[in-house]
Amino acid sequence: MGGPICIFDSGVGGLTVLQKIRREMPDESLVYFGDTARAPYGGKDAKTLISHGREIINFFLKHDAKMIIMACGTSSSTSYDTLCAEFPSLPIVDTIRPAAEETLRQAQADNFRPLFIATQATINSGLFSRLFSDESGTELHARACPLFAPLVEAGHIGGHPTAVFAAKNYLADLRGKVNTVILGCTHYPLLKLAITQALGEITFIDPAEATARAAAAKNLPPPTAPPKISYYTSGAPEKFSSLARIILNENIAPKKLASL
Ligand code: DGL
Repeated sequence: MGGPICIFDSGVGGLTVLQKIRREMPDESLVYFGDTARAPYGGKDAKTLISHGREIINFFLKHDAKMIIMACGTSSSTSYDTLCAEFPSLPIVDTIRPAAEETLRQAQADNFRPLFIATQATINSGLFSRLFSDESGTELHARACPLFAPLVEAGHIGGHPTAVFAAKNYLADLRGKVNTVILGCTHYPLLKLAITQALGEITFIDPAEATARAAAAKNLPPPTAPPKISYYTSGAPEKFSSLARIILNENIAPKKLASL
C-alpha cells in the first residue's frame, strides 16, 4: 500500500506533470512510463486508448502502485471513466478535470477569453467544453493541434521554426480574440514560445499544477521507503533520455519495455 505513484503518457509530455508531482509530493516514489513506441495517442480511437491504458495500469500494479496519474490529456478525456470503473480500489487522477476546475476558478477574472488546445481525440471528446462552458457559460474557443505532440517527440520544442510554423497555421487567426490558453495536452508546455509567437502575449493555464494539487489532495498511505524515481519507455531509451534531459534538466536512464 505504500508503493509508488505511477504516471503515464504517450511519451515525454507527461514529464511536465511528473515535475510538478515531485515538487508537490517530494517524499513519494514515482514510476513513469512513456509509451513512445505507440505515440502519438491523439489520432487513436477511444477503444484503443482504453486498451493501452488498461495494459499500462496492469504493469503499474506489478510495481505495487498506490495511485495512477494519467499525465495525458488524450487518455484523460477518452479513458478515465472506463478505467476508474475497471480499477475501483485504485485512485486515478487525470489532467482534464483538474484543468477545467482551475479554468473555472480563473474565469472569475474580467475579460477572460479562453482558448483550449489539445489533440484531436481530446477535442473530439468534448469533455473540457462540457466541464468548463456548461458550468461557466463563458464562450470557449477549442482547437486541435495534431502535429504539436509529434513535434515535441522529434525534439522541435521551444521556438523551433517548425513548431512556430505549425503554431501559426493552427492558431494565428485567433490572435487578439483570446487572452488565455489552456494547454490540454501535456506535451504543449514545451511549445509555449511557438504558441506565443502565433498568438502574442497570453496567459497559460498548465494543467500539470492543478493535477499535482489534485493528486496531493488524495488521502494516500504514507511512503514506506525513501523516494526514488524509475523511468520506463516502450520506445528508444536514448531518445527518451535526451528529451528528458531538456525537460527535467537531469540525466535519467529509462528502461526499455519490449512489451507490457
Ligand atoms: N501528451 C498527450 C496528451 O496530453 C498525448 C499526445 C499524443 O500522443 O498525441 O494528450
